[in-house]
Amino acid sequence: MRKLLFVFGLAAAMVACKSDKKEKDSEEESYVIPSSEKSSEKTPLTASVERGKKIYNELCVTCHLPNGKGIAGTYPPLDGSNWLTEKREESIRGVKYGMQGPIEVNGEKYDNIMTPMGLSDQEVADAMNYVMNSWSNNIKDMVTVEEVAAVQEKE
Ligand code: HEC
Repeated sequence: MRKLLFVFGLAAAMVACKSDKKEKDSEEESYVIPSSEKSSEKTPLTASVERGKKIYNELCVTCHLPNGKGIAGTYPPLDGSNWLTEKREESIRGVKYGMQGPIEVNGEKYDNIMTPMGLSDQEVADAMNYVMNSWSNNIKDMVTVEEVAAVQEKE
């Protein structure tokens, strides 16, 4: 009888030990959840890119196409565009006021018209941030409303 009690006691101690471990595990889990929530929080740039995606798919997509590659000789590419990286202000001006005349993008000549689209400064910034961070583009230096507002139409 004594022996039996001893075995029972041992078993109870083991169970207690196990449930201790379980508690610790779930504590660790609940610690992980808030930190993963944090990483999916929107930054000003990701929020702008999200808004810009809608604008792009409504307006820009007809000429520059869903893949951002445009049509060689007619509509210049935005994906991998050297113009976009080297001529930031001219790009903003083009989206804000429209653009025409001869340009060269990635070694290809264009002399066509991008009509003005009547976007607000915020919408210009959002569309720019979308194209600057889509496809192979990764220009994290965000275009702000203030930057767009400061860009004047060329005389
Ligand atoms: C009607 C067709 C059309 C639409 C719509 C259009 N574009 Fe363009 N885009 C052009 C053409 C044509 C050019 C080149 C103009 C030239 O030859 O001077 C251009 C040039 C550009 C350039 C600079 C050149 C380059 O390839 O990097 C950027 C940036 C640009 N567009 C972004 C946009 C964005 C953003 C939108 C939507 C908000 C948009 N475009 C809508 C036709 C269009």
